[in-house]
Amino acid sequence: MVQSLHTMAVEASQKAHSPYSKLDVGVAIKTDEGKVYSGCNVENASYPEGWCAETTAIGHMIMDGGGSIAEVAVFCAQMDKITPCGGCRQRLSEFGSSETVVHLCDANGILESVTLGALLPKAFEF
Ligand code: THU
Repeated sequence: MVQSLHTMAVEASQKAHSPYSKLDVGVAIKTDEGKVYSGCNVENASYPEGWCAETTAIGHMIMDGGGSIAEVAVFCAQMDKITPCGGCRQRLSEFGSSETVVHLCDANGILESVTLGALLPKAFEF
């Protein structure tokens, strides 16, 4: 089950639009209900207008009715091990919890699994 999230993240990275950074990022998320969604980063010539793979995946989840994020797999084809950026930690926090598991992946599988609480302690919430 976890391995399929890894595969989805790798396949999502192959759809990245990343002509500027040349970092192909893919993310797959699984909800508490077991639904899965993936996303890639989408860059723009006006650099700040691009967005992260996590954002695409969350958008897919929301358009399918939403959910609570139980697990996330993150992959970047050009990095040994990517971790979600600060903004995406906050975005994941909106739909997850401190117990949400974040799998940091390379092409072969999961390298490390950490909680969102460890990645974003004292998250902003209200
Ligand atoms: N990127 C992601 O897609 N997710 C992250 O958590 C970190 C960064 C993307 C955004 C941009 O397209 C590229 O990586 C370089 O910052």
